Amino acid sequence: MGTRAESSSVSYEAFRSKSEALERFHLRRRRQRYLNVFLLATTLLLINLIVFYVVDQTRALPSHPAPAQTFCYFGYDENDHSLQPENINGTLCDHIIFGFAAIENNKLVPRGKGDNRDEIWRRTVKLKERFPHLSVMISIGAPAAQFSATTSNETSLRTLVESAVQIIQKYEFNGLDIDWEFPAWGGMPIADQENFISLLRELRKAFDDSTIFGNRNHLLLTTAVAAPITIVQTSYKVPDMALYLDYCLLMGYDFNRFNKLVPLVEFNSPLHRHTGQVSFLAMLNIAEASELWVQKGMPREKLVVGMPFYGVTFKLADRNRVEVGSPAKAVGLYGGSLTYARMCALLEEGDWTVVFHNESRVPYAYRGDDWITFENPQSIQEKTQWVLDQKYAGIMTFDLNYDDVNRTCKTSKENFPLQTIVFQAVKSLKPVR
Ligand SMILES: *[C@@H]1O[C@H](CO)[C@@H](O)[C@H](O)[C@H]1NC(C)=O
Ligand SMILES: *[C@@H]1O[C@H](CO)[C@@H](O)[C@H](O)[C@H]1NC(C)=O
Ligand SMILES: *[C@@H]1O[C@H](CO)[C@@H](O)[C@H](O)[C@H]1NC(C)=O
Ligand SMILES: *[C@@H]1O[C@H](CO)[C@@H](O)[C@H](O)[C@H]1NC(C)=O
Repeated sequence: MGTRAESSSVSYEAFRSKSEALERFHLRRRRQRYLNVFLLATTLLLINLIVFYVVDQTRALPSHPAPAQTFCYFGYDENDHSLQPENINGTLCDHIIFGFAAIENNKLVPRGKGDNRDEIWRRTVKLKERFPHLSVMISIGAPAAQFSATTSNETSLRTLVESAVQIIQKYEFNGLDIDWEFPAWGGMPIADQENFISLLRELRKAFDDSTIFGNRNHLLLTTAVAAPITIVQTSYKVPDMALYLDYCLLMGYDFNRFNKLVPLVEFNSPLHRHTGQVSFLAMLNIAEASELWVQKGMPREKLVVGMPFYGVTFKLADRNRVEVGSPAKAVGLYGGSLTYARMCALLEEGDWTVVFHNESRVPYAYRGDDWITFENPQSIQEKTQWVLDQKYAGIMTFDLNYDDVNRTCKTSKENFPLQTIVFQAVKSLKPVR
């Protein structure tokens, strides 16, 4: 027992500093998005647009779907004690998406500094030697302004596409993912919508050009897309996207976070709406967002539903009002978000009340004036089962780095417990690997 306590306190320190850096990184990237979501959201409330988007649940499901695919983001952070590629259990995913590559001078480049910064790409692709079933993709995650500038000019667009082709060939990636958050959103030009389509079209052309790639296997083209209806309306020409994409990765998270315009505690990644939600705010959940994308023209067999391995924190305005939808006064612990592993450690400290919401199918926890929306094995299990039952194309998770990678949590039975749940559920539907 003594040995176990010591070693877990050592690894706790390592994982604590890792989590903090990850959380800061995460928060920076998303804070701006949230402000934007709610500014537009409030406007939309006033004009009551949602009438047009009442979801029709009666749509037919395909009778013979292809096996569900699992896409695992691997969000490597070069400044941090991040999960290393060698420690990824490749059995658990069909596709690993390395996040993220940057754009420099209109070319795709590795993040970070120094001569060897592409080493991490090679090490990630090398996973294919140990896990031959695996496809390893690279994701471009650049600021919206950079995507906008690069794709608005034919010359620079061509440069970007050519550099993507070269990198895929050189490192033997299996495809490319685009994480543009978000076209024509937050003050960016409306032309982004069409330029985003041009980017996808030119990439698809190059990937299908056998004079470039010979008889290599089909290269995948995917993109991570927003779920809130406000962004979907503004950013995407969905039928055109569907022409060029192999899969569309719906970010089934970031639905809610503390904001001053609607200062309420709400779920990060609810599966369903809950009683008391009104107007378009009630549509901020995985089930309705997925259906919205299908209605807008994304074929169900291309729509991959994403789920988070992180939670979001709030400070309650009144510690006696703890139900979802209660008033919030500020961002909560750890700057606003935390990994599953850290959440686990926090709950092990005790004194938390944990509730599993009977409608939205996610847990939340509170202690004093702290309130946290998070995922646990049950919520991931139920989301996964829902995606499979609804016959969507598969499941995306964000990301491996936020799972309990080294089983630091007492309730984890294996490394990557959340991804293991996804793997097990999907495996039960397809031939054993
Ligand atoms: C997990 O454990 C491995 C093997 O002991 C170690 O090399 C690695 O640094 C640990 N990873 C993290 C993220 O703590
Ligand atoms: C990887 O995951 C599979 C499926 O859960 C499991 O059988 C295997 O033991 C895991 N490998 C390692 C090294 O943990
Ligand atoms: C497009 O970019 C190229 C090279 O960066 C530049 O020379 C050219 O002037 C740009 N064209 C337009 C229309 O801005
Ligand atoms: C969920 O719980 C609330 C309050 O406890 C109850 O009123 C409601 O009927 C329950 N809904 C379902 C779907 O079980």
